[in-house]
Amino acid sequence: MQDIITQLAEKRAAAKAGGGEKRIEAQHAKGKLTARERISLLLDEGSFEEWDMFVEHRCIDFGMADQTIPGDGVVIGYGTINGRLVFVFSQDFTVFGGSLSEAHAEKICKIMEQAMKVGAPVIGLNDSGGARIQEGVASLGGYADVFQRNVLASGVVPQLSVIMGPCAGGAVYSPAMTDFIFMVKDSSYMFVTGPDVVKTVTHETVTAEELGGAMTHNTRSGVADLAIENDIEALLTTRRFVNFLPASNREKPPVWPTTDPASRQEPSLDTLVPDDPAKPYDIKELIFKIADEGDFFELQPDYAQNIVIGFIRLEGSTVGVVANQPMVLAGCLDISSAIKGGRFVRFCDAFNIPILTLVDVPGFMPGTSQEYGGIIKHGAKLLYAYAEATVPKVTLITRKAYGGAYDVMASKHLRGDVNFAWPSAEIAVMGPKGAVEIIFRKDIGDPEKIAARTEEYRRRFANPFIAGSRGYIDDVIMPHATRARICRSFAMLANKDLKNPWRKHGNIPL
Ligand code: HXC
Repeated sequence: MQDIITQLAEKRAAAKAGGGEKRIEAQHAKGKLTARERISLLLDEGSFEEWDMFVEHRCIDFGMADQTIPGDGVVIGYGTINGRLVFVFSQDFTVFGGSLSEAHAEKICKIMEQAMKVGAPVIGLNDSGGARIQEGVASLGGYADVFQRNVLASGVVPQLSVIMGPCAGGAVYSPAMTDFIFMVKDSSYMFVTGPDVVKTVTHETVTAEELGGAMTHNTRSGVADLAIENDIEALLTTRRFVNFLPASNREKPPVWPTTDPASRQEPSLDTLVPDDPAKPYDIKELIFKIADEGDFFELQPDYAQNIVIGFIRLEGSTVGVVANQPMVLAGCLDISSAIKGGRFVRFCDAFNIPILTLVDVPGFMPGTSQEYGGIIKHGAKLLYAYAEATVPKVTLITRKAYGGAYDVMASKHLRGDVNFAWPSAEIAVMGPKGAVEIIFRKDIGDPEKIAARTEEYRRRFANPFIAGSRGYIDDVIMPHATRARICRSFAMLANKDLKNPWRKHGNIPL
């Protein structure tokens, strides 16, 4: 018995030592924490229950039979974040570069399956050289096993990937199928093929950072949702983020205590929208002023900035916010913003998170690059997502709601539950100038006539009352009372029950 206990202690010590002192030093020298240090920062102190510490690879080629390290390059288990259960895997770059063997993949699959059974999020801390080269196809099979579980878990439990080192080749497709990707600046990168292959095939010279670093995926590709300064910040941000999420699709979002009264008035909102309809303002100011304690967790803040997405709480409960941003491209919808917004709406709907939509949209972006890029198909993603969503939907039109974009942005016609407008709202097929230039084309040479017609159009349509007269707008509210009216609406909708007709799955325009 004593022998076994000694062996156990030795094996535990070997697993905890990972790839050894030197490699741990090298990891630290790159500004990166080890797999275990990361888990201890992510989870509540003392809450981590580790599994499969004794798992070893089964490879005998290339001298691998003599090289086994207990745990095989990934630490897995479960623990809590602010008392709430989460499952976690953390790849250990000090062990064979965190590369994925068959056994390593089996460990990841194990927690994913358990998470689905009990209903808790899966958080992956990725730091890996990719497929374990010595294992060949067994490693590729392992990846596919993980991919399959990513898909089965999608919409069942929230899946979050934090990229904290290399993530290259086909390995990128596991994070790609999770709900959110956070990347650490300067030490993480993701690409399907690295700079050397790119050079050979396309003759482009590019660094790993330029090709797939955190800023590339947060500003250009839209693959990632946040770029975070360093490992510690990334793990603390992940803890804060998980506080917004329900544990699974069987639960409602958590409710946290708040001292912020639902009835709080914000007089400054009465002057947020400028008198000149062509002048921009920052929609985030409205979001901060509506949110409990002004707390807004924004996602993709540096990508497709003409739409703003993220989570706030109202009366302690999570609400997903989608808002047009008049500061960027006048808030119009284009390919990138439609994809960004559509995917977020679908996440909220899958996980019972009510959606607040703030509308100031002059329409879809015109131009050949948009049409050739498929704005028809990509714009339809946002439309489809809103129309499909059955969670509570509250919409506020602050200013412009023109054309097809009026329909798309959670309008009454797409089963918006409560649709408000501010007195500054303009709801019409298009702006007065464009409208007059079309319907009074024959008068175009007469500036006086055109000006009079434009004023007439503005008076008739640039207001919320025509939509109000048809019941498309439930009420025109005063800006200072926005938080109170929205809180009341969501409280009324707390037990909303709406189901779509049965189907295997819909066919969203991908
Ligand atoms: C086995 C690996 C490995 C791998 C790294 N190592 N990647 N071992 N399989 N894929 C080992 C190294 O031998 C080294 O071992 C240790 O990890 C650290 O690696 P270094 O090269 O010293 O580190 P660094 O200089 O930081 O470079 C990191 C790296 C580089 C950029 C990730 O290691 C690299 O290019 N690795 C190969 C990447 C790759 O081509 N992977 C396959 C991709 S294809 P020692 O003992 O010296 O510490 C793929 C397909 C997936 O993944 C398909 C899914 C469908």
